[in-house]
Formats: sequence, C-alpha cells, structure tokens
Amino acid sequence: MFEEFLQAPALASWLGLLAGLLAVYLLYSSWTFQDNQKHPPGPRRLPLLGNLHQLDLEKVDKSLLKLSKRYGPVFTVYFGLKKVVVLAGSKAVRQALINHAEEFGEREISPLFHDFAKGHGIVFSNGDGWKEMRRFTLTTLKDFGMGKRLIEEKISEECHNLMEEFEKHKGKAFDNTMIMTYAASNIISAIIFGKRFDFKDPVLRDMVENDKEIIRLAGTASIVIYNTFPMLGPWLKNWRDFMKNTEDYKQHFLQLVNKLRETFNPDICRCFIDAFCTRKLSLEDSDAQGVHYHDDNLVGSVMDLFGAGTDTTSNTLRWSLLLMAKYPQIQDRVQEELSRVVGDRQITMEDRRNLPYIDAVIHETQRFANIVPTSVTHSTSRDVTFQGYFIEKGTTVLPLLTSVLYDESEWETPNTFNPSHFLDKEGKFIKRDAFLPFSAGRRACLGEGLARMELFLFFTHLLQRFRFTPAPGMSEDQLDLTPAVGFTLSPLPHQLCAVSRH
Ligand code: HEM
Repeated sequence: MFEEFLQAPALASWLGLLAGLLAVYLLYSSWTFQDNQKHPPGPRRLPLLGNLHQLDLEKVDKSLLKLSKRYGPVFTVYFGLKKVVVLAGSKAVRQALINHAEEFGEREISPLFHDFAKGHGIVFSNGDGWKEMRRFTLTTLKDFGMGKRLIEEKISEECHNLMEEFEKHKGKAFDNTMIMTYAASNIISAIIFGKRFDFKDPVLRDMVENDKEIIRLAGTASIVIYNTFPMLGPWLKNWRDFMKNTEDYKQHFLQLVNKLRETFNPDICRCFIDAFCTRKLSLEDSDAQGVHYHDDNLVGSVMDLFGAGTDTTSNTLRWSLLLMAKYPQIQDRVQEELSRVVGDRQITMEDRRNLPYIDAVIHETQRFANIVPTSVTHSTSRDVTFQGYFIEKGTTVLPLLTSVLYDESEWETPNTFNPSHFLDKEGKFIKRDAFLPFSAGRRACLGEGLARMELFLFFTHLLQRFRFTPAPGMSEDQLDLTPAVGFTLSPLPHQLCAVSRH
C-alpha cells in the first residue's frame, strides 16, 4: 500500500498539493502582516498547525503561562489557522474585561460550543438573545433567592442530606465525587425545576453523568484538534462521545420542561421554567423582546445553568476537603474558629463576617484550585487598540485566569496554599484585586452570588460535623494536588475519611 503511494504519479500529486498549501500559507501570512498596525507579538507558527506543536493540549493554560513569560501580557498564538490573543496577568485581564468591557465582551463560539448550544441559552450565545436571556436569568435567580434567606434555607437543607450520606460511611475512606455533585446540582435544580432529586434518582444520576463527561471531553487534546479542524469530527471518538452525551443531556431537560408545562399555571410561579413561560406569555405581542422566549432558549438556558452551576461548585468543594485533609493545621484553625464563634448551633450566612479565617480559606481554595483556568473564550466586538497593540474585530481572546490567580506580582506565595493571602496583620479578611475565579466584566459569571453562598454553607456545615483525613495507611504528603484533565479542573480520583467530631 505504502509502496503504491510512493509511486511516481501519486507522489507527484502529493508534492503538488503540499507546494500549493505552502503557497497559500505564505500568501496568507504575508497578507495578514501588511497592514502597518502593531499586532501583539507571539511565537513563530508553522503552516496549518500554527503553534499547536508548542502547546500541551491537555494543559493549555500552563503552556500559555510559559509563553506569557516570554511574550508579555498581550500575545498571539495560533491554534491551527485560528488566531487567538491571550491576555495574561491580573493587570491586562482586568484592564481588558473591566475597562474595555464592551470591546472584549463578546463570546467566541468555538465549533464544539456551537455543537453544544447552537447559539442558544446564555453561556454560548451573543447579541440581543444573549442580552435578554442574561438579564432575565439574573432577575429570576434573584427572585428565587440568590443572595437571600430563601435559598439559604434550601442550601442548609441540602447540607443536612449530604451530611447524612457522609455519616453512612462511618468514618471509612470513600470517594465523595458523586454525592458532592448531586448535592450541588440539587441547589440549582431547586431553582430551575422547583424541586430537589433524591440522590438515587436515575434522572439526576444520568444528567450529572452526562454533564461530567461533556466537561471532561471538552478538555481533551482531540477536542482542541476538533476545534482547530472541525471537519475531522466524525473521525474523533471524543467528539462523537461528546455529541452523544450532549444529545442525551438535552433530552432529559426537554422531558423535565415538558412535564412542568403540563401543570403550568401562570398565577403560581414554582421555578425558573415557570417564570420563563409566564414571561413568554406576557411578551406575546412584543416583537422586540418576545422573539427570544422560544423553546431553544428555554432548554439552552436551563442546560447552561445546570451545567455551569453543578460542576464548578462541587469541584471547588471537593478541592476544599482535599486541602483540609492535606493541611491538618489549617483544618485545626478552621475548626477552632467554628467552635469559638458558632459552636454547635445552625450556621447561617450572617456568621460569615465573624469567620474571617474560614472566609480566607474558601477564597484561597478558589484561587489555588483555579477551576476555570482559561475562562470561557471571548471575542472582540469591534477593532480595539489595547496596550499599544491593534486587535481586530472578531478576534478570539483568551483571558488566562491561571495567570491572574497565580500572578507572581500579586500574590506573596502564588504556588502555595496560603489563606494569609486574604488576611491582614490583625487576622481580618481582606479582598484582593487579583481574586478573579468568576472572571470579570460583561460576561462575568452570573451565578457568583449563589456559588459563594453554597461554598460557605456547605464548607462550614461539613467542617462543623466532620474531621477530614487521608485514607488509612496514607500520609498527608501522599495526597496529590495535580488536577485531572478537563475543561474545568477537578481533583484526581481520591478517597478521604469523614470522621464524625461528635
Ligand atoms: C465556584 C463556582 C463557579 C465558578 C468558579 C464560576 C466561574 C465562571 C467563569 C470563569 C465564567 C466565564 C466568565 C467569562 O466568560 O468571562 C462563568 C460564566 C458563567 N457562569 Fe459561572 N462559575 C461558578 C458557578 C456558577 C453557578 C452556581 C452558576 C449558575 C447559577 C453559574 C452560571 C454561569 C453562567 C450562566 C455563565 C455565563 C455568563 C455569560 O456568558 O454571560 N456559574 N462562570
């Protein structure tokens, strides 16, 4: 076969094709750089591959961080033919996303994200549809208690369910991945569907399974290849698995939406889905806003909220427990503060301002765990000159959150888990500008308020009841803090003991 391929006519046509591609590439690169503008610098690229050969495709953030040391806070890399401008360091990321919020505030919708959302919902949409869905969702989340007492009660209730599950292991080592994920998903489910699911409910289990698989696959090397060369999709197993999981995931949401519709009563608003249907009814005569209230946007938004609200929060909580087991002296201080300030009574959000050390530990967990390392890519809405560089409209922009949360010029000990980053000399909690796990600006996380309540209440309830330790026979040093591969960073599979303190 190979010999046949090398036969003269075949070889000649392959050489012809290569020469053609090279000519196109040379034309393309000379054309892009003849506009007399100063473009962000970057490493030399290869034809077709761009800079892919210089990136670790399963740790893209780490490779980009390395390149930023050489090329500075605003630089260009090519994923194949796609130009990406990377923003690195707290100063550049904040300046772009906050001071130039409009210019840097579009979403870049990669082929994979397009396959997932088809331009609907909130996370992977743009334009008037995105604006309307974001505004409506924020208002509805607030109506359902984001940042208020109502949702606090729901979270505390879920903490008790979770603690019962932990108790069942009677202090023996176990992997908490699934139950932590079920607990977090029940908070967003209470808002979206007006109910929580039993941890054994197959619908909950399937949705969480799909969600986890979608996020894992989205961070694999072959998906980076797919986003660069989408025509390869059908030959890539990870892309086919991604599509299968996305379809199953969507079907679950469609069924839940349809079930709620059967009992819909515009006078009683039970959940986000009811609020959407009521709004749709009230806007039936309004062309301008009404056009956005269709089924694709409903299912898309619900999928976005469930996806964005489940994995992120549960992962951060899993990191927090792993870090407590790894650093028992820090866990001692957390439990000492809890015993002194709260004792055995029910913890509430009100307690947070009297628990500065715990607040610092939660912030430091978010900084150190860095769970969305490359944020979700943005795009420029118009031509912009930024830090002296010209960036044209429609350029993909990657705000490298790793470079903000680990910025050496901002953090005293960036590579060490150190709650003192958030404490002053008197032990009072201090805010830090470079604390940006939720990103910033126009596309910043819209669930931040809810996530912060969940992190505080789940963490404190669990630490009030349990002491977290490595599995028997394992030392703290052996607990591995290397993240698993994925679009979001979760801990590697591990087991911990939750030993009851009472
Ligand atoms: C620890 C928890 C969380 C973290 C670290 C986190 C982080 C992020 C980040 C980095 C982004 C991208 C922002 C950007 O493009 O610049 C984002 C977007 C988003 N997050 Fe979160 N998130 C968390 C929890 C949640 C929760 C609980 C919800 C749901 C209520 C949520 C809903 C969203 C949505 C809808 C977007 C898209 C916003 C838009 O495109 O306009 N997130 N989040």
